[in-house]
Order: sequence, then structure tokens, then C-alpha cells
Amino acid sequence: MTQTQKILVTGATGTVGRQVVSELLARGHAVRALTRDAARAGGFPAGVEVVQGDLTEPESLTAALEGITGLHLITFGGPYFAPLETGPRILELARAAGVQRITVLHGGGPTPLEDAVRADERVDWTVLMPVEFMANALEWADSVVHSDEVREPFVTRLSAMVHEGDIGAVAAVALTEEGHGRRTYVITGPEVLTVGDKVSTIAAARGRDITLVELTKEEAVAQWRASGHSEEVIGFLLEAYGNTPEVGRTVTGTVEKVTGRPARSFAQWAAEHADAFRARPAATG
Ligand SMILES: NC(=O)c1ccc[n+]([C@@H]2O[C@H](COP(=O)([O-])OP(=O)(O)OC[C@H]3O[C@@H](n4cnc5c(N)ncnc54)[C@H](OP(=O)(O)O)[C@@H]3O)[C@@H](O)[C@H]2O)c1
Repeated sequence: MTQTQKILVTGATGTVGRQVVSELLARGHAVRALTRDAARAGGFPAGVEVVQGDLTEPESLTAALEGITGLHLITFGGPYFAPLETGPRILELARAAGVQRITVLHGGGPTPLEDAVRADERVDWTVLMPVEFMANALEWADSVVHSDEVREPFVTRLSAMVHEGDIGAVAAVALTEEGHGRRTYVITGPEVLTVGDKVSTIAAARGRDITLVELTKEEAVAQWRASGHSEEVIGFLLEAYGNTPEVGRTVTGTVEKVTGRPARSFAQWAAEHADAFRARPAATG
């Protein structure tokens, strides 16, 4: 039986952070959830202590760090995932507070925060390097609901996409159990899927066909611009989708090795989220 520990989760209102919170709670640990706006940050399970702080202003974290044993960190701190420059100071404060274990959600490339954590010899750190999140498929929800369509470029690209709950589960174990210090974990789902595979899995889960419309690169760029993506994000998407690196399309056994149970499939994710892809009944009255 693992002893109860107290963990501070940053990015706690985000896709991954919410899963880190619930996986820690499920294992019986105490959780403090960081947000920049505690008044707006709802929807946490009972028992979670919500605290306010901003990673770009490390001194605002002092109270949040008090009495914790483990810390889950994101590497960005503003719009468009701008890398945090405050990593070294955050680490100083964490060490002074007695933090023993740290997980870092890798940001897709080198960041000052991750570099600072990797250089730290006094804490047990684990870098979490997930491939594409299954949750990214929620970007298709509006188009599926309104026109039974998914419009995407590079439809034969392969992805070993991972259930965000499994990223949370790996983080929860690394933050609270021995044996994960100074490791980098590439975290994937159990299978490699094309865009077509994903679309047919969602169609089966919601019980209604979806047409996959293949866009040219130019059409995709125009669509991303129209939906407000920055040129930097568009460049990243073109590279990630048009030339997916091997690591993004290769299944690892990390989830099972670390948590003791198999990685969740996209079919499971689609069943959990089927309602997001179904037309809402019209309001009456
Ligand atoms: N999407 C993918 O397929 C994918 C794959 C691999 C890796 N990643 C990486 O995953 C990360 C994104 O994670 P996510 O999707 O879970 O994030 P997300 O859902 O976009 O959530 C962003 C979180 O960051 C917090 N935040 C932002 N700036 C902050 C600041 N200055 N101080 C404190 N908190 C701050 C927000 O908290 P509040 O707003 O509550 O303050 C929120 O909880 C990126 O680094 C990305 O590169 C993504």
C-alpha cells in the first residue's frame, strides 16, 4: 500500500492536468490544483484543493508549494504555449519546499523549464513525452455534429495517439512511487491509426456515418487560418501531420509497464466521448 502523498498539479484545468488530478485522487493521494484564476476553475472532483498562482511569476507559487511531496509541471505559460523562462526559479522554490518528485509534460521540443529539471540531481524527475492526444479528435466535433464530415489533410498519416487518462496515470505513478527518477517516458496508445481509422471509430461510437473529406495542404492552411491558428501553430501542424516522426507512430509499452494495465484504445475513448459527436436535441418550451 502506497503512503498518501500531497501533490501540486500545474496545468490542472487543462486536458492532461485534469487527468493527472483524477488519477492521483483514484490512488488515494491528496491533490492541490494550480490555476491562474481560482474563481473560474470549476469542475474539480470533491477534495481537490484549488490554489491560485502563475508560473510566469514564480513567487506567486510559494503558498501552493508548501507541504507538497510531488509536483507536476507544464513547460509553457501563456498564449500559443510560449515556453516558460522561469523554470530555474520554480525549481529553486520547489526544492526549498522539500519536493522530492517532479513530472514534466514535454512541450514538443526543448524548453528552459525541462532543461532545468533534467539538470537537477536532487529530485527524482520524470519527463512525460506523450504522442498525439486522443482528445485532439474533439476538434472535429462541430463539423461532425453539423455536417457529418471531417475535413483533414494527410489522411493516411499514422499516429500512435494516446488516451489523456493514460498520460495522467503514468504521471500519478511516477509522482508517488519509487523507480521512475531520471527517466523519459514516451507514452502512446496501444495501436497505430490513420485519420480514416479514427473517423470510422467515432462513427461507430456515435451510431451514424461520417464522411472524411481530404483537404489539400493549401485548403488545410486556409481552414486553420480561418479558425484562428497562428502561423507558428500552422507550421507545426504541417510538419507534424505531413512528416510525422517515427516516435509519433510507434507503439511503446510505457503505459502497461508503468501502471500495470494496458493502454486505453481509441475505441474506448470514442465510446466515452460519443455524445460530443452527436447532434444535440433542440431545446423545447
Ligand atoms: N495536443 C497534443 O496532441 C499534444 C501532444 C504531445 C504534447 N503536447 C503538449 O501538451 C501541452 C498542452 O497540454 P494540455 O493540452 O493539457 O494544455 P491545455 O488543455 O491547453 O491547458 C493549458 C493549461 O495551462 C495552464 N497555464 C497556462 N499558462 C499558465 C501560467 N502562466 N501559469 C499557470 N498555469 C498556466 C492553464 O491553467 P489556467 O488557465 O487555469 O491558469 C491550463 O490548465 C503542450 O506543452 C503541448 O506541447 C500536446
